[in-house]
Amino acid sequence: MARISLGADRFEGEATAHEYRGLEAGDILYFAQSPPILPDSDRAFLVTQKQVDASYHKNISYRPLEDRLKGVDQKDPAQVERVHQIMRDYSRRAVAFMGTFLKRYAASWRLDFASFRPIEEAGRQVSLHSRNDLLHFDSFPTRPSHGDRLLRIFTNIHPERERVWITTDHFESLADKFADRVGLYRKPGVLDSCKDLTVKAAASMGLPVVDRPPYDRFMLKIHHAMKEDSRFQETCRKDRWEFPAGSTWIVFTDSASHACLSGQYALEQTFIIKRSSLFAPESAPIAVLEKLAGRSLARSA
Ligand SMILES: [Fe+2]
Repeated sequence: MARISLGADRFEGEATAHEYRGLEAGDILYFAQSPPILPDSDRAFLVTQKQVDASYHKNISYRPLEDRLKGVDQKDPAQVERVHQIMRDYSRRAVAFMGTFLKRYAASWRLDFASFRPIEEAGRQVSLHSRNDLLHFDSFPTRPSHGDRLLRIFTNIHPERERVWITTDHFESLADKFADRVGLYRKPGVLDSCKDLTVKAAASMGLPVVDRPPYDRFMLKIHHAMKEDSRFQETCRKDRWEFPAGSTWIVFTDSASHACLSGQYALEQTFIIKRSSLFAPESAPIAVLEKLAGRSLARSA
């Protein structure tokens, strides 16, 4: 995995074919100086926000399509409204920047959530599967991607301190190691079909279950299996990346393994990228898993 550094002269205009390909292959597109997506006054206000119950709310989230804010530990309605306005503006600016810089994806992407991460990552007490400091590929438990890709832009808005990540091998190199463990090579049987039908029926009745296609089920299982494997976490090859205060980076977090070891105050906007808009759809995680499995994983049996 590599970090491709870009200067302020790249704030306008589109990424090159080399940069798109690098990004899709698991590299990090990195701006030491962030594109203009957050005014100083908004940054100064956000870093005063604290989360009281850090174990419950992982982040403050903003849903741009619904203009909805969640997770703010703040009783004062005026303060809540200010956070809401800042997140709304941040999300719009991040989307506008990405819409130019990664224009190829923008016509068909789906806009996902934005988040503000006010909690220090080092030493956080959360459940094993929620831990950010263990290497993983992203998979959203409640929002199946159906084989489309998870692209994220992060900005470290801490006034001084860096945000520290480690990464290990790319999805393509690690998929086989975990595929057997999560049952990818087992052919679906009658029981699986019955289970699928039950979930589908429950979802259509409005019950709180998530109807995931096989691809999303395997990605979630791989996410959990990686975090549960302490030997893998300790012994795998690692690269360490420091993202200084004021920097921005863009990464496909479903194929670039990552863990956040330390850092406080980051902003992030997620995009779901259509597979058909990729330079290399054959390297997408769904294509890698389907090749290993020898069958389609796109929808339920
Ligand atoms: Fe992640």
